[in-house]
Amino acid sequence: MAREPGKPGQVETVTLDPPRPREVRVKVASAGVCHSDLHLLDGHLDADNVPVVPGHEGAGIVDALGDGVRDWVVGDRVSLCFIPACGRCPTCEAGQENRCEPGLQASFASRLLDGTSRARDAEGSELKQFLAVGCFGEYTVVPEQGLVRLPDGVPLWQAALIGCAVVTGVGAVRNAAGVRPGDSVCVVGCGGVGLQVIDGARLAGADPIVAVDRSESKLSVARAHGATHGIVGGGTRPGREVRELTGGGVDHAFEVVGRTDTIRVAWDALKPGGGAVVVGLAPRGTDAVLPALEFLTAEKAIRGSFYGSGRPRQEIAELAQLSLDGAIDLGRTISHRAPLEDLEPALQRMRDGVGSRTVLILDPELAGALPQPA
Ligand code: APR
Ligand code: ZN
Ligand code: ZN
Repeated sequence: MAREPGKPGQVETVTLDPPRPREVRVKVASAGVCHSDLHLLDGHLDADNVPVVPGHEGAGIVDALGDGVRDWVVGDRVSLCFIPACGRCPTCEAGQENRCEPGLQASFASRLLDGTSRARDAEGSELKQFLAVGCFGEYTVVPEQGLVRLPDGVPLWQAALIGCAVVTGVGAVRNAAGVRPGDSVCVVGCGGVGLQVIDGARLAGADPIVAVDRSESKLSVARAHGATHGIVGGGTRPGREVRELTGGGVDHAFEVVGRTDTIRVAWDALKPGGGAVVVGLAPRGTDAVLPALEFLTAEKAIRGSFYGSGRPRQEIAELAQLSLDGAIDLGRTISHRAPLEDLEPALQRMRDGVGSRTVLILDPELAGALPQPA
């Protein structure tokens, strides 16, 4: 639980009101620690986000139903989706369920669709639920539209990642960039989300896939995910190196850090006619600085991608199936499993760039066992 921006969170007893109509209580099995949670806890987002139960990337089982819920029964295995899309607003009808109007409003307010939250502290005061989820706890209550059915066989400790990192990364490749077989790709930032961009690029048939990260250890993980080349370094120098390595630049560059200098690296890595996609969430007040001449002289383009730029719920279901089929290896992205009490060390690892992803295990039995080494 986080009370003040920039101050460490603490584990507290939180009371959950029962699910209201069309809401579902979920017993959380596992929850990924995403950089957006770190931004929240480090006070990089709006100050009115607190007090809040963090966590927006999770998996578990349906535990209780509000009135009028027809599609779910107690015990269903689910991934959480942090945009509870209505499917009916003009944005949803245009295929951009990631930006569903009521869904986005609830998510960015860190409350449920009726504008309230179900979480309360010991005094009975309202706690927000980060991105309409708030899954760093044993239970959460979410709108029924915020659930995605998981196929049997996907371990819940891995499935947590699908609802944010995987759909964000793979969607950026497929929907925002439209990478095609043989396209050249550069990925700047190879953390939990960047590795999923690499997976998406590999699945799309991209070649080469150049990984850039300030940490050498991240590059070796990136290679295991399918990167064909790795460039280590911070600052803006790697952009030129990518151009030299690829004989003039890449078709698509993805920025998956959220910084001024790494946005510039992605831009500089492009060949004429190429396009950059910014996936990283930058702290409020961060500017992107680009040589504007190149919009014309090199016809370069840049756009953002939020939550996969498509239909997250449908895509989470498809990606869960892909992981079951072995096309995406989620276990390889998860470097640490930890109890809720160890959230702060997990956040510190992320600040220090150590490990790819921590998954908090809220219910070890539901989360499932680690695979035995072959
Ligand atoms: N140059 C190159 N790589 C960098 C730099 C830099 N200046 N700074 C950080 N990195 C690398 C880190 O070494 C790490 O591998 O960026 C990666 C960031 O990964 P994580 O901390 O695991 O963050 P992740 O959860 O992947 O999120 C990345 O996407 O969705 C957003 O909010 C999220 O802004 C965040 C970004
Ligand atoms: Zn996230
Ligand atoms: Zn909608």
